[in-house]
Amino acid sequence: MNIAIIGSGGREHALCEKISKSKRVDKLVCIPGNGGTQEIAQNLQIDIRNFKLLFEHIKRLKIDLVIIGPEEPLVNGIVDFLRKKKIKVFGPNKFAAKLEGSKIFMKNICKKNNIPTAGFKVCNTTKDVKKFIKNNEFPIVAKADGLAAGKGVVICQNEKKLIKVSKEIFQGKFKSSKRLILEEFLQGEEASYFLIIDKKNFSFFGTAQDHKRVGHGETGPNTGGMGAYSPAPIISKSVEKKVIGKIIKPTLNYFRKKNKHYTGFLYAGLMIKNNEPYLIEYNVRMGDPECQVILPRIKNDLAQILFNAANNNLSRNRIRWFKNICMTVVLCSKGYPGSYKKNVKIANLEKKRKIKNIQIIHAGTLKIKDNFFSNGGRVLNITGIGKNIRILKKQIYKFLKHLNWKNGFYRSDIGWRLLNK
Ligand code: AMP
Ligand code: GLY
Repeated sequence: MNIAIIGSGGREHALCEKISKSKRVDKLVCIPGNGGTQEIAQNLQIDIRNFKLLFEHIKRLKIDLVIIGPEEPLVNGIVDFLRKKKIKVFGPNKFAAKLEGSKIFMKNICKKNNIPTAGFKVCNTTKDVKKFIKNNEFPIVAKADGLAAGKGVVICQNEKKLIKVSKEIFQGKFKSSKRLILEEFLQGEEASYFLIIDKKNFSFFGTAQDHKRVGHGETGPNTGGMGAYSPAPIISKSVEKKVIGKIIKPTLNYFRKKNKHYTGFLYAGLMIKNNEPYLIEYNVRMGDPECQVILPRIKNDLAQILFNAANNNLSRNRIRWFKNICMTVVLCSKGYPGSYKKNVKIANLEKKRKIKNIQIIHAGTLKIKDNFFSNGGRVLNITGIGKNIRILKKQIYKFLKHLNWKNGFYRSDIGWRLLNK
């Protein structure tokens, strides 16, 4: 079987790593890929926003299954486009991808189906914002409706900040939408719940917790994620039952009734308080870096699972898990999530590859001849799997210390919740 993975981040390298281990895979292509995927797959440098060009290459390469990594092509309808051309593809259709593409769409589904989530109001004017302030306490969460590369959510502590943020959104700070949604602030512990879904069934696809803020002790601006671990102990069996019954099933039924079935990965971002889960957001893809800590815990052949799911035969698989804990620490370029230098050499990476139970997953890297260079904000994911979180943490940080990349930084407290338990 020939497989193409669309995307260029750590998530896509992790997918490539797992899929490349399958005996059923003959050819693996990553479009466009990164310095890490290049080692195990054929990278193809084309613009993934150009669906027509993408299709021509997929046909030329005789691809049997396309797996979409990031949200943007999903929200723009890549799945519908490729399915029309009779290409097998794993991911949600354009309508279902609005779960991530429009926060207003997602919240309205919650409202109609009594899905537990923060109270909210869609605002069109500053007058609407002021009305919401009257009826709610600070902090208030302001969200741009459309995709905003992780920058569209601001937790506002006072009226001045909220009015400023609202005006920026109304004036079109985010190209995807000028619409604004305000939410009440939820207290609790955040965790992520993942599923793999076909037209007929869904399967549990792991839990994880990530560290979104750039600084030690959950401080500073939001990022794509500075590190993660799986599983997330806060998602107990009883919480999981509520997640499925109160959140997942009503959502999937909504799409089923409309005959617009949700298929693909589904990522539910949850806030858990007193054993009760509330839905913060849906993402219509795997998380990054959550994918990096979930896939190494799966015993099965991932290519087979995804191929079956794309053919609505998900029930043929029973996903089996290693009991081990998996953790990843993200090495970033200095300056991230603000501006940072690109094309900085990462020396000695080749030599550092072979440490038992530690895997280097590339994100923003490029390989030129035998050398790796940075070309993104999040550069490498140092990922370890093991039984003991303390030993694992030591191994990962020892590796980072020895790598000693002068242009990089990382959070030194990834996994603090696990260590405090
Ligand atoms: P989102 O893109 O909706 O996941 O928001 C990004 C981050 O903002 C989440 O991971 C939460 O940490 C935080 N957040 C979003 N909505 C809320 C809320 N209603 N209450 C508390 N925190 C929130
Ligand atoms: N790590 C958060 C995300 O993938 O959205």
